[in-house]
Amino acid sequence: MFLLGLIGSMFSTASFMTRRACRSRCIGPFASGRRLFSTVYLRTGSVYIHWPYCEKKCTYCDFNKYVALKVDHDRMKSCILSELKCQLKESSIEKVSSVFFGGGTPSLALPATVEAIVSSLREHLTEDAEITLEANPTSATSRSLEAFRQAGINRLSLGVQALDDKELLWLGRDHTAAESEVCLQQAAALFPGRLTADLLIGRPGQTAGSLRAELRRLLRSCHHHVALYQLTAPRGTPLGRQVARGAVRLPSADQQGALYAAAVDELAAAGLRRYEVANFALPGHEGRHNSAVWRGRQYLGVGPGAHGRIVSRATGRRQATVQIPAPERWMRAVESGSGGAAKVTPLSGADVRSELVCTALRTRRGLSRDDWLAAGGGERRWRHLYQHPEIARLQEFVEATEERLAPTARGLNVLDALLPNLLNVLTSYDCEVGEDEDRETLSGS
Ligand SMILES: C[S@@+](CC[C@H](N)C(=O)[O-])C[C@H]1O[C@@H](n2cnc3c(N)ncnc32)[C@H](O)[C@@H]1O
Ligand code: SF4
Repeated sequence: MFLLGLIGSMFSTASFMTRRACRSRCIGPFASGRRLFSTVYLRTGSVYIHWPYCEKKCTYCDFNKYVALKVDHDRMKSCILSELKCQLKESSIEKVSSVFFGGGTPSLALPATVEAIVSSLREHLTEDAEITLEANPTSATSRSLEAFRQAGINRLSLGVQALDDKELLWLGRDHTAAESEVCLQQAAALFPGRLTADLLIGRPGQTAGSLRAELRRLLRSCHHHVALYQLTAPRGTPLGRQVARGAVRLPSADQQGALYAAAVDELAAAGLRRYEVANFALPGHEGRHNSAVWRGRQYLGVGPGAHGRIVSRATGRRQATVQIPAPERWMRAVESGSGGAAKVTPLSGADVRSELVCTALRTRRGLSRDDWLAAGGGERRWRHLYQHPEIARLQEFVEATEERLAPTARGLNVLDALLPNLLNVLTSYDCEVGEDEDRETLSGS
């Protein structure tokens, strides 16, 4: 059993629903309660912008996306700018180290929109901020790549998905394999060392041999970073219905495992290291945006259906945010001044810690003591975690030192089976010692 996940900023959130007033009153930084988070953790973060429109719907996709006859670009741009400004004020973030334009299909946004958003962040962006745009590799995208670069984009993520025209048709994609290759070559020239491609694995009929050949073809122009997505058939999608009625059969778990192993091997031969369950890069070319999310850092989620995790300036607590999904309703809410939030869920210390374990353990880097402490996990709880006998028992899957808790290569393959054990260890501390016992006020940075 193994787990290949989707994008890090797409958490699902539960329960508790409040309508967030956009203009929150700032009552001084982290005024309520003791300070739990480190200064660096509080001041730096990332921004996720969701562009909700697509040209057409792929057969397998249940992301928050809409096919609109006519998109009001000016209106969407003003709403994103306004919501972004509001959320920045509400959060404790001063410095933005990465921006990710995801979707939907953000390459359908006007470069002028992207430029306006990037410009609005100018005073917050760190010097080396990573600014990524997700793009569908159509010929229209090829034509606008230079304009996106001028607009401030410095990394491109291309949704190649497959390099076979029949399969692309079956998946409902709006591009051919040849168009993808042209786009990849142009993007490689425009964003040197900062190009990544998404590929779907576990497509019906895919074999280890065909997957290896496809990867070799992809690596010709995209050889710094690749993301693999295990094809799922979500309910409510055309593929989901086909699978439910038995018209299509996805590979079994064992077959999926064999495909994944072949891909890991092929990518390793090209020097791409698996630094996260689904992400592979040459050393030094790892994506910084998702890495920050996996390390439990803050990120604003702006745009219809976007998810975020921020520490509220007003309460000093980390909270999960999710925006209203439907674009029209979202824009109306933003324009009315009530803000685009559908849900704001304050997270307990236990929520924060278990999320951090779940995301950090997806990466080879794992969970560092520094990140744990920065997120308010506490020194004693850290000692409990890395020294626990259950962790020692799992040494084939998890390496535990005073500085780090990281999955082994085998551990990454069985991550979904491993995580419940780690979460149990965390919970055992809360049961023995109590939720509040370990709260330590941080001093300095
Ligand atoms: C939602 S898309 C947005 C970017 C762009 N529109 C594209 O299609 O590449 C982001 C990634 O999610 C993947 N994705 C969406 N639905 C999926 C599914 N059911 N199984 C696996 N990957 C999926 C897409 O293939 C793509 O690589
Ligand atoms: S996979 Fe991408 S292009 Fe296809 S429907 Fe989903 S968001 Fe749109």
